[in-house]
Amino acid sequence: MNNAKFYETIFKRKSVRKYDMAPLDEKTLEDVKKFIDDIKPLLPEVNTEFQVISQDDVKSFMSIKAPHYVVVFSENKEGYLTNIGYMLQQLDLYLSSKGLGACWQGIAKPAKDIINKSNLEFVIMLAFGKPAENLHRSDKSEFKRNSMESIRDKGDFDELLEVVRIAPSATNSQPWYFNIEGNSLHVDCIKLNPIKALIMERMNKVDMGIALCHLDIACQKSEKKFKFSLKEPSNYNAPKGYYNIGLVEIE
Ligand SMILES: Cc1cc2nc3c(=O)[nH]c(=O)nc-3n(C[C@H](O)[C@H](O)[C@H](O)COP(=O)(O)O)c2cc1C
Repeated sequence: MNNAKFYETIFKRKSVRKYDMAPLDEKTLEDVKKFIDDIKPLLPEVNTEFQVISQDDVKSFMSIKAPHYVVVFSENKEGYLTNIGYMLQQLDLYLSSKGLGACWQGIAKPAKDIINKSNLEFVIMLAFGKPAENLHRSDKSEFKRNSMESIRDKGDFDELLEVVRIAPSATNSQPWYFNIEGNSLHVDCIKLNPIKALIMERMNKVDMGIALCHLDIACQKSEKKFKFSLKEPSNYNAPKGYYNIGLVEIE
């Protein structure tokens, strides 16, 4: 991860929904694939698979039109959706830093034969290509996000959490909350009513991984150690309306 470049990119990236439909050149696609091979997992024990496919392999009318997509599969293990969010956000930032557009695709699916060929569970796709609209935000004020006060209980880590606050999330839902105790951040996710949860619970767990990716990049930038664990001390209770997904220790 080229951290300095990614840190800068976080402050200007946006979802790109209009693409030049001409395929990217071979060299650029090879570079994307090489980057994918080097993506750092949050949970190394979970098996994952990333495939680059083209528009012809996406049959879903729910997707935006782009020349390429990355399709992500994973073993279904504890924390796997959050692990995918953490991993694929690295690619989102890489593409944006290289002048390419990207957009997470929470509903679209690849063609059935692509899903059937993998032994792992299909999780999500990311559309990408040469942008046919502005690639970046021109000003940070263009981020429509919740206030810092609404995503944490204490101000001790605001510089790091600002990087999380502006992270992308499905339908811009920003489901994260950080409960701070010394150098530990309890990472909590919003609880949804059963109807909303049918679609959004999965997406929100991916969103939590995106938030952790941004937090990790912010920690590296300020030369702090980021350590994530899925298991919380048993005496921790998430605030009302939230459930816990893990713990970050910052040193
Ligand atoms: C897990 C996830 C799923 C998403 N699914 C879609 C989608 O299906 N279609 C779409 O147009 N945007 C999708 N998005 C993009 C979000 O709407 C977008 O990130 C959010 O509104 C914030 O805007 P920004 O990315 O421009 O900062 C998704 C984002 C995430 C993180």
